[in-house]
Amino acid sequence: MSNYHIKHLEEYYQVYRKSVREPENFWEEVAEEHFMWRKKWDKVLSWDFTKPEVKWFEGAKLNITENCIDRHLATRGDKTAIIFEPNDPKEASEHITYKQLHERVNQFANVLKDEGIKKGDRVCIYLPMIPELAIAVLACARVGAIHSVVFAGFSSTALSTRINDSECKMVITSDGSYRGAKTIDLKAIVDDALEDCPCVKSVLVAKRIHSDIGMKEGRDKWLQPLLDKASSDCKAEIMDAEDPLFILYTSGSTGKPKGMVHTIAGYMVYTAYTFKNVFQYRENDVYWCTADIGWITGHSYIVYGPLANGATTVMFEGVPSYPDFGRFWEVVEKHRVNQFYTAPTAIRALAKQGVDFIESHDLSSLKVLGSVGEPINEEAWHWYNDNVGKKRCPIVDTWWQTETGGIMVSPLPFVTPTKPTYATLPFPGIQPALMDEVGEELKGNQVEGRLCIKFPWPSMARTIWGNHERYRETYFSAFENKYFTGDGALRDEVGYYRITGRVDDVIIVSGHNLGTAPIEDAINEHPAVAESAIVGFPHDIKGNALYGFVILKDTGESRVQDNLRKEINQIITEHIGPIAKLDKIQFTSGLPKTRSGKIMRRILRKIACKDISNLGDTSTLLNPEVVQEIIDNAI
Ligand code: PRX
Repeated sequence: MSNYHIKHLEEYYQVYRKSVREPENFWEEVAEEHFMWRKKWDKVLSWDFTKPEVKWFEGAKLNITENCIDRHLATRGDKTAIIFEPNDPKEASEHITYKQLHERVNQFANVLKDEGIKKGDRVCIYLPMIPELAIAVLACARVGAIHSVVFAGFSSTALSTRINDSECKMVITSDGSYRGAKTIDLKAIVDDALEDCPCVKSVLVAKRIHSDIGMKEGRDKWLQPLLDKASSDCKAEIMDAEDPLFILYTSGSTGKPKGMVHTIAGYMVYTAYTFKNVFQYRENDVYWCTADIGWITGHSYIVYGPLANGATTVMFEGVPSYPDFGRFWEVVEKHRVNQFYTAPTAIRALAKQGVDFIESHDLSSLKVLGSVGEPINEEAWHWYNDNVGKKRCPIVDTWWQTETGGIMVSPLPFVTPTKPTYATLPFPGIQPALMDEVGEELKGNQVEGRLCIKFPWPSMARTIWGNHERYRETYFSAFENKYFTGDGALRDEVGYYRITGRVDDVIIVSGHNLGTAPIEDAINEHPAVAESAIVGFPHDIKGNALYGFVILKDTGESRVQDNLRKEINQIITEHIGPIAKLDKIQFTSGLPKTRSGKIMRRILRKIACKDISNLGDTSTLLNPEVVQEIIDNAI
């Protein structure tokens, strides 16, 4: 029996049982049958969660781009690998075959080499969703450089923090980007960021919006002329299984962003395997994930997972609302999309627009619908199911994280019966555990607790770049010998999982992970601000929105306060990006604190959620009187 493609429920249970009883045999079979190795591994797995140290396929040699491109050339050379759909529907879409992708990645890889990029160097990629983004990622992998893609909506401060943290030698960007009706001057953001980045020696600039931009002599180069000169032949660097493939930053509840490090072989095997099964991808299907490659979803399920399976993957530059709210459905119709993967926040925004935008398009090509990034509420689930899938396309509610590299809990379409709001069953190889407050595992069904994973899986992040201790502390210290996800979950009577949300100070806004601490740090930079605290509250489109409680050094009149609100959001935009702006800002004379000086966010959260019936005992606070003031002035 091949374990690679699971086709019915009984088979899922069989494969799952095998993956738990004999994990090493199980993964060895998957890895052996479906990938191209320059040398096979000496050992499938070694692990120790106390250090923590995890190694998969140790001793193996490979290059992931040979798996994602070269090995398809013989049978799929003329098949479309990437369909690029531009922001403006009037601009032609582009179909890049596997053969063309091979040439373009090789040319780009040669440019990287000519610019002095070597195995192990870090390269920051700050690009919009244009083909050069996927090609740059693959070119790095081809030469063994470690890519660090930064979402092109992040501010210059956020960009420079990330560049410096991993000491990137090069930045790849574009003159600008299109986003709906707007154009964004990306190069200017990079110039700003690089004021503080001595590690960056060169900047390659792709042309997208053809704007007039400044190029710094000796540092900046236009990409296209270099590509034009480069050979389309580039031998892939032979890498070790556990060499880093990329760094991707994610917010933590405290401190600076964490550069999660993913290594090559395990990540490749797991993303390819999950892609095949979670989307039931068949040859000649067209698959579209609407995420940005700046996030893990784009890394794993626009680039690596699909290409490792020889799939056709759509890259969309635009937004769901431009030129109107029918854009997604127009793209589905135009490219006859079979699998469509998006975020609940997009579904809610589209649902608000009614069904007319859908009705005018032919969505009959769709077979599978996916959801990722945050819990999908029941209403959005049904809207998606009824109107987009016409009740014939299973919805795969996929739970996973930047840290997990690939999908961890999800139905398999046409295999696992779905249940609204439930991510359902763990993927083969994934052993979840629900833990109670005192660290005991909750056995059996119908329990709710903190979600941990008790056995390693191939695509787990191996460390935080430059800070292994923080990696241990964040993920492996809360529960002994287990990876702690930071999420709460419940298990129903048949063993299905439902993710209930974060149990730490990370807030998911429109599917984006935002840590409260960096936002508070940004606000506190404002000269008028003494202290601040951020909490989340429910929002009908974004899932959660941010509510800030701010103590001013000097309380002014209300007109001034309105200006201050704007300035606070401006500071957040500059430090992090517009995604972290606050929806509500309440000025207050104090924040509820414990006697040891810790802010009681639980109380603030309840007030922000307008749920003040049960605030608990506030009498032990350092300043109980402030609670009533906050309630009285709540927005
Ligand atoms: O809280 C969970 C939520 O998103 C977090 C991970 O965010 P990030 O690393 O940005 O990766 C997002 C894309 C994989 C998780 O800890 N989350 C993600 N998917 C789901 C989800 N919550 C509920 N249901 C999901 N399907």
